[in-house]
Amino acid sequence: MTPTPTRIPARRHCLQALAGGAATLALPSLAFAALPAMTEGPFYPSPAWRARELDWDADLTRVNRTKAGDAPRAAGEWLDLGGSVVDDKGRAVDGAEIEIWQCDVHGSYRHPRGAGNQVDAAFQGFGASRSDAQGLYRFRTIKPVVYPGRAPHIHVRLRHASFGEVTSQLFVAGEAANTRDFIYNSLSAAERALVDMPLQRAPAGSPVVWLAQRSLVVGR
Ligand SMILES: [Fe+2]
Repeated sequence: MTPTPTRIPARRHCLQALAGGAATLALPSLAFAALPAMTEGPFYPSPAWRARELDWDADLTRVNRTKAGDAPRAAGEWLDLGGSVVDDKGRAVDGAEIEIWQCDVHGSYRHPRGAGNQVDAAFQGFGASRSDAQGLYRFRTIKPVVYPGRAPHIHVRLRHASFGEVTSQLFVAGEAANTRDFIYNSLSAAERALVDMPLQRAPAGSPVVWLAQRSLVVGR
């Protein structure tokens, strides 16, 4: 599969163009760049397949089919991922649908063809949420792990009437495997800044190990 990152001029280049003083050139936009569009990969679980399950909520660390409180919890280092959905002018996007999907600690995806030798049945693998009036969103999941041939990543898809649909992937900021990832390597520095998740250790006593704040910037 071939990544198709959207090539939006980095702000740095815009400023260089301005500094050049070429008054006859059309001035490029100084707006923020948006999330680079990427392939959904082979393991996006289709809505029809997902319909067989009961739980695709924003907490991927528990598959709560029975809504019982004691459902087994996902293996891995739990991660609270949150932030805001904003457009390329910095305005909050209210009511954006957000989907994330990733493999479990064994490298298995929730997909008809995504299971490896081992599956963590307690990991939901796919979750959906919606940004609130302030554009805020939040997921509980696991810190992504290395998948054969890929750096740890979380797939993300956003939908909203104002911008349509965008599919991208989030990476762990500073992760050594990023430098060997063909998709990450295809991104510019400006694009990496939009898909890097800086992870922070959660305070002692927190149910999760990691916290990440990640604005999801969309063009509209
Ligand atoms: Fe993937």
